[in-house]
This record gives sequence, C-alpha cells and structure tokens, in this order.
Amino acid sequence: MARQADFIAPSILSADFARLGEEVDNVLASGADVVHFDVMDNHYVPNLTIGPLVCEALRNHGVTAEIDVHLMVKPVDRIIPDFAKAGASYITFHPEASEHIDRTLGMIRELGCKSGLVFNPATPLSILDHVMDKVDVILLMSVNPGFGGQSFIPETMNKLRIARKMIDDSGYDIRLEIDGGVKVNNIREIKEAGADMFVAGSGIFGGKNTDDANNYDTICGEFRKELNAAKV
Ligand code: DX5
Ligand code: ZN
Repeated sequence: MARQADFIAPSILSADFARLGEEVDNVLASGADVVHFDVMDNHYVPNLTIGPLVCEALRNHGVTAEIDVHLMVKPVDRIIPDFAKAGASYITFHPEASEHIDRTLGMIRELGCKSGLVFNPATPLSILDHVMDKVDVILLMSVNPGFGGQSFIPETMNKLRIARKMIDDSGYDIRLEIDGGVKVNNIREIKEAGADMFVAGSGIFGGKNTDDANNYDTICGEFRKELNAAKV
C-alpha cells in the first residue's frame, strides 16, 4: 500500500492559550494539516491541560481542519464520547489507561472518529497484534508523555521502522504518527524511518518570534522542505 501524504500536526500545548483560536488559524494558514490536541489529567501524566470544552470552542471558532485528540488520561472511556461530541476527528489513547483496549478502540469508531493507540517509549508494539484492524493511527511517543520541549529519544527510530513494517505487512490503511522532540533537524530521518504524521509543539510554537504569524510560515515551510527531501 502506498504511503499516505505527510501530515504536519502542530501540538497546541506550546501555543499561546490566551490567543488559541488565532494561533490555530495562523498555523493552519501556514500549511499545517492537523491540530494536535494534548489532553492531560494530572493523574496518568503529571500535568493538566485542556478538555472537550476547548475542542468545541475551536470548532465554534471556525476550525475545520482535523483535530487529533491525544488522551493522556486514565481511565479513558468516560471522556471519549465528550470529545466525539466536541468535534474530535482522531481520538488516541495509551493502552495502559484502558482496561479493555479492544472495546475502547471500538467505541471511538462507533462514535464516528478515527481511533488510535499511543505507545510510550518503553511500551511494546505487541499490544497491536490482535487489534490492527481496529486502529486508524499508531502514535509512537518519542519522549515520555506529559510535557512539551523534551528531546527526541533516539531508540524511537528503530521502533518506527518496526511499526512501519507491521503496517505495511497488515495491508491496512494506518497512519504512523510521531510525537515528541520533532524538529527541522530530525524530521527527515523520522520520515525515512516510517512516519507519515508529525507532531511538533515547541518546534513550531516555541520560536523566538512567536508573536509573528509569519514565523509559522517559515517553520512549516522548512518542515515541508525536509519532508520532501526524504528518501522513502
Ligand atoms: C507530550 C505531548 C506532545 C508535546 C510535544 O506529552 O504529547 O504532543 O506537545 O511537544 P514537543 O514537540 O515540544 O516535544
Ligand atoms: Zn501529544
């Protein structure tokens, strides 16, 4: 199966929350494809962020791009219908946060969203063995979840290659997403290792000129140039 088009997915965790609608508009206008929406509960991860009301507020603001909800919450099932109702496109969760992974994946699709599992750096991919037909995206964490601005863990490159082979061998149309420490200087190698969906928080919103919307044009342009130069 042919590789899907590259998706650049800015993580709004590093955006200016006081001007969130404007930030999302600007980064999408600069060529980003998907809004990555990090949900943290101060329980599964030691940080607290945003919930369904903020997702719904972005939809009401006029955001039509896909919203990729990354749930770092435990338990996970209770909050999933709220995000589906709030306009989520993708809903991904960590297998450690669900007692019944198959059921949770099924619930996400039944609610009309794309479903996905998220793998922490030390979580084995074997969890996928019997649910490959139930995922639309596999998200590999290249940092430990909870915070933006951490460094990419190099072992993730090997894990990406393994996950890419699993997807290709399965014959299913599954995206391979990477999250954590993605920057202009490693995004090409990350694509070459198998990813086709690239989350970047501090790499996009953390620049010096964050007040300057054109900054996002520059950074998204640099990402796209590196992606187009990748040999896959
Ligand atoms: C971390 C979050 C990431 C984070 C990435 O738990 O899932 O989406 O925002 O931030 P950077 O790109 O700064 O590593
Ligand atoms: Zn994330």
